[in-house]
Amino acid sequence: MKVILFLIIGYVMGALPNGVWIGKYFKGIDIREHGSKNSGATNSYRVLGPKYGLMVLAADALKGFLPPFLASQFGVTGNWLILIGMAAIIGHILSFFLNFKGGKGVATSLGVFLFLIPKVTLALLVIFIIVVYATRYISLGSIIAAILLPVLTFISPLNYGIEKWPMMVMTIIIAIFVVYKHKTNIERLLKGTENKFKLK
Ligand code: G3P
Repeated sequence: MKVILFLIIGYVMGALPNGVWIGKYFKGIDIREHGSKNSGATNSYRVLGPKYGLMVLAADALKGFLPPFLASQFGVTGNWLILIGMAAIIGHILSFFLNFKGGKGVATSLGVFLFLIPKVTLALLVIFIIVVYATRYISLGSIIAAILLPVLTFISPLNYGIEKWPMMVMTIIIAIFVVYKHKTNIERLLKGTENKFKLK
């Protein structure tokens, strides 16, 4: 029963469209009509500016972190925490607030994995920052981090009684999904027309 409640909480929190709401509330802009048309933190930064971009990043990461964290505080352990994290990521990608559309899942996954596998996630964050610094492509940083997620998870010890194979299944699904959601970015990267990140 407790687990079902946290699965629902995970999905509902993940579905909160922070980028769309923050853009509309503070600037009267629907970010889905501008820039890359994505509802995530990168496009919020691009369209709304650094303050709101960072706000969306924090809010999207938090809605990924909180569901498995809160569940663990209420005694949920083991592979259920993976499913609760998955529920938040699915909520972000298929949000009922946005007619079951949503973002690419990177910031929400960051929050989920910061809780589940913090060392792996911090290592991926460093790799992401190096790729973005070297190339100026946030999308490339996201894609490389997503591909490396199952690889680093494979060699990492796990917490909270989580077993290796369900964690591998989860990270492989998330990696495939994040790369798939970046298909237009990949096309632009190959054509050399992808947006470069500019510090504002
Ligand atoms: O996390 C999304 C990022 O990798 C790409 O965002 O807006 O450039 O498509 P965007």
